[in-house]
Amino acid sequence: MGVLKEKGPIEYSKGLEGVIAALSSISAIDGKNGKLIYRGIPIEMLAKYSTYEETAYLLLYGELPTKEALEKFSAQMRELRVIPKKVEECIVELPPNPHPMDILKVALAHSALYDPDRQKCCREGVMRKVIRIIAQLPTMIAYYHRARTGQEVIPPDPELSHAANFLYMLHGKKPDEEEARIFDIALILHAEHGLNASTFAAMVTASTLSDINSALLSAIGALKGPLHGGANERVLKMLDEIGSPDKAEEYVLNALKEKRRIMGFGHRVYKTYDPRAKILKEYAEYLSDKYNDRKYIEIGERIENIMIRELGKKGIFPNVDFYSGIVYQFLGIPRDLFTPVFAMARSVGWAAHVCEYTANNRIFRPRAYYIGPDYVEYVQLEKRR
Ligand SMILES: CC(C)(COP(=O)(O)OP(=O)(O)OC[C@H]1O[C@@H](n2cnc3c(N)ncnc32)[C@H](O)[C@@H]1OP(=O)(O)O)[C@@H](O)C(=O)NCCC(=O)NCCS
Repeated sequence: MGVLKEKGPIEYSKGLEGVIAALSSISAIDGKNGKLIYRGIPIEMLAKYSTYEETAYLLLYGELPTKEALEKFSAQMRELRVIPKKVEECIVELPPNPHPMDILKVALAHSALYDPDRQKCCREGVMRKVIRIIAQLPTMIAYYHRARTGQEVIPPDPELSHAANFLYMLHGKKPDEEEARIFDIALILHAEHGLNASTFAAMVTASTLSDINSALLSAIGALKGPLHGGANERVLKMLDEIGSPDKAEEYVLNALKEKRRIMGFGHRVYKTYDPRAKILKEYAEYLSDKYNDRKYIEIGERIENIMIRELGKKGIFPNVDFYSGIVYQFLGIPRDLFTPVFAMARSVGWAAHVCEYTANNRIFRPRAYYIGPDYVEYVQLEKRR
């Protein structure tokens, strides 16, 4: 047998850092200057003037909708929020203990079986499936939370916006306008972020010409991890562990000495302050003052100062997950729903990339550089020691 090892210099990028794997016109990140645009529009503008529905349209269709187009799209989203009865029955029967990200996988997989567009692969059919998933993920999350806490599920209210309706289905009462708007902004800020791990996972699955539901299931699995979407929940756990601002210094320095990561800091692309974190920090501040409860924000700010002092030179700054948890906590969202909320917001970015990539598809198939032995003799089982 010949030698299988490759010779000569190789190009290898651990974690695919810096590798360009697709052409895209959906979003762009300037990691040096802390800028993010969706279809050319700075996220600061979208956070100020847009809604999640409008941003979803922008990401999916490539341009801001006209008034009529937005009304039509929003009406379609509202109509599709209701999940099939069988899926509701399945969700409310699920055990109360698993992580809700696992529940989301079950619910999404189950809902595919009842999707009326299941067999369709034309553009309109796929788009309806996409909008249905984006519209229904919040219902699935809220229903599960209500059921696991022994409460009646609250059906979606077609009068409410995407953001307000989720808070309503979760709490059983309509949120005040200001809180619904803050949540809406949080969803906008999480809607899209280039070829992050979960989006790439979705694209890899879709590139085999599998269905959109399978692609988004891959994404949910990837988002769950603590190095990705799972970080937000752990930030709050860390703030609780620290307990008070004066204990932050010791905690952070010990963690760094032991080579532990501080959740909510660092990013593959941003080497400066994540622009999404900047906006979320403002709302975390605002809500802390509104509720006269500054414990979390003060610990958070202390950690931020220490981390920038210690690791700022290395490009480690707060990322989107650092302040989002404080905002969600004030909105009454349970901690283990932070990552599912991230998923429901990001579903639009996942879908936009899948549609864009598969329109000019090529299956993803990278290589591994073999570093194992050249040749090993096969020893029969009975002769092995
Ligand atoms: C996001 C993340 C996975 C990016 O990873 P990456 O681009 O592969 O960066 P690396 O893991 O190579 O880290 C580069 C250096 O920064 C350090 N670093 C990165 N994030 C850090 C963090 N949160 N706390 C402490 N040190 C960190 C690493 O230890 C490494 O140091 P070294 O060069 O001395 O070994 C990483 O920053 C991280 O683990 N952050 C915490 C989890 C998190 O908040 N995730 C949400 C992302 S939106």
